[in-house]
Amino acid sequence: MREEDIAEVMEIERQSFPMPWPESAYRNEIRYGTDSLYYVLQPYREPAPTTWLERVFGPARRRERLPVIGYVGMRFLPGEAHITTIAVHPQWRGRGLGKYILLMAIQQAARHPIRFVTLEVRASNRVAQQLYTEVGFRFVGVQRGYYRDGEDAWLMRLGPLDRAEMERLEEILRETEARIRW
Ligand SMILES: CC(C)(COP(=O)(O)OP(=O)(O)OC[C@H]1O[C@@H](n2cnc3c(N)ncnc32)[C@H](O)[C@@H]1OP(=O)(O)O)[C@@H](O)C(=O)NCCC(=O)NCCS
Repeated sequence: MREEDIAEVMEIERQSFPMPWPESAYRNEIRYGTDSLYYVLQPYREPAPTTWLERVFGPARRRERLPVIGYVGMRFLPGEAHITTIAVHPQWRGRGLGKYILLMAIQQAARHPIRFVTLEVRASNRVAQQLYTEVGFRFVGVQRGYYRDGEDAWLMRLGPLDRAEMERLEEILRETEARIRW
């Protein structure tokens, strides 16, 4: 995620969360968040080359930038990566993209010295809970009244990320990628 993506991220954020983060939260994470990683999912369309010159030099320069359709963020704590946010544009949900960006983020996180990936999810958010459970997160507790509107958070955890677990996640990532319904 770059600063120029934030306006598009905010469009999705406002449609995805009852209490959206302010724009400044993303800006601060990108500018000053040395212990965090934020990604956007942004497809590119490669136009078909027409002349030999374009075939050689064209596509890379003429790649059409399509809108941001999802994003994910995480922050590193000692021994763990904490997923701070994840969302897919409402028009693009249910195609495997949420699972894809989650697994991609975990793969990137695993390059750092971590054993677990953790997150909080609203007690009422069945879709997200289902996604996390399918990827292998387990319920580890409840934080009563965690959200500002008083709703409880479920605490979920994935790991330990040993070699067998990383291979399992790699396999789900491959399956998910193959199933994405663009
Ligand atoms: C949660 C979210 C990111 C999932 O993104 P998505 O692209 O729709 O999810 P996917 O298509 O990759 O689906 C992944 C899994 O989620 C579950 N899921 C997705 N849509 C579902 C639905 N409508 N009902 C029940 N489960 C659903 C399924 O288990 C699915 O796996 P499957 O396709 O193998 O059955 C998306 O719904 C979203 O942006 N929600 C609003 C923001 C949010 O709640 N973020 C989580 C904060 S903790």
